[in-house]
Amino acid sequence: MIILANDGIDLQGKAALESAGFQVITNKVDQENLAQAINEQQIVGLLVRSATKVRKDLIDACPGLRFIGRGGVGIDNIDADYAREKGIQVFNTPASSSQAVAELVMALIFSAARGVYDAGKFMSHQGNTHFEELKKKYSKGFELRGKTLGIIGFGRIGQSLASYALGCGMKVIATDQFPVKNTVTMQIEGYGPLDVQVPLVSFETLIEQSDIVSLHVPKQKDGSAVLGDRELAMMKKGAVIVNTSRGGVVDESALIKYLQSKHIAAACLDVFVGEPTPNPELLQHDGIVCTPHIGASTSEAQGRIGLEIAQKVKEIMGINV
Ligand code: 3PG
Repeated sequence: MIILANDGIDLQGKAALESAGFQVITNKVDQENLAQAINEQQIVGLLVRSATKVRKDLIDACPGLRFIGRGGVGIDNIDADYAREKGIQVFNTPASSSQAVAELVMALIFSAARGVYDAGKFMSHQGNTHFEELKKKYSKGFELRGKTLGIIGFGRIGQSLASYALGCGMKVIATDQFPVKNTVTMQIEGYGPLDVQVPLVSFETLIEQSDIVSLHVPKQKDGSAVLGDRELAMMKKGAVIVNTSRGGVVDESALIKYLQSKHIAAACLDVFVGEPTPNPELLQHDGIVCTPHIGASTSEAQGRIGLEIAQKVKEIMGINV
């Protein structure tokens, strides 16, 4: 049985699938040639990350597909309900990447707090000619200890982020539209686990009280923003926004407006509307700290994702190896 891992798969996951008897193809097929490749090679399973889109037309064109696996969390690139109606199993790997995303959020917040990202851009070509000016320009940073981090969406990633922020001495509050557990277990090396209760507050309270707001929610089904004009206006003056969830969860036009007015001091963005060609006006804005959608892209997380994929494929196909 042949599986196409069209956006790649970690070697550990590939090896686990191969030892269960699958052939795994990792050569990327362009979106427009995907249906033909799947049918010609009698591929039974399609594995993707966020780049390959699995829409209704592809699903209709590939009646031999038994499963579609998303190596990652967000499945907004897959018409999952439609695929399931057609008898195709769809799964993701929600257990594997929380820590990687949480660590990127902390990196982005630290970067915004001390101007690391922005200073780095200038240091490379002005560091030996304008050192004193740059020192003055980047000497207005802030510390995280004592600041309030508001986490919107308190699932696995939000809870993992809370543990890092608590470790930095931040006050953490969270909100979620579903009932969630609010106990965060901190694993402190050498001291054993420590349980901390994170206050769950209303969405409005969170955006009004937080110095930094980080979003950990899926793309809204109707495409609407969680933080739009109204919500950005409600945030504290000088607040920082972090979006590592999906482009569009923060309204980018409204964000540019609130960055211009300095009501929002900085936005840390790993995800964008229109990937892989985000809006240059946003990318070039002084108030932005940005990365190219790398939240889950650590070697450890991709290793875990590969193994989680292999486990789920074996379950679906009834293989006990
Ligand atoms: C996810 O939804 O898991 C992340 O956004 C990672 O997406 P990627 O696999 O395309 O990097």
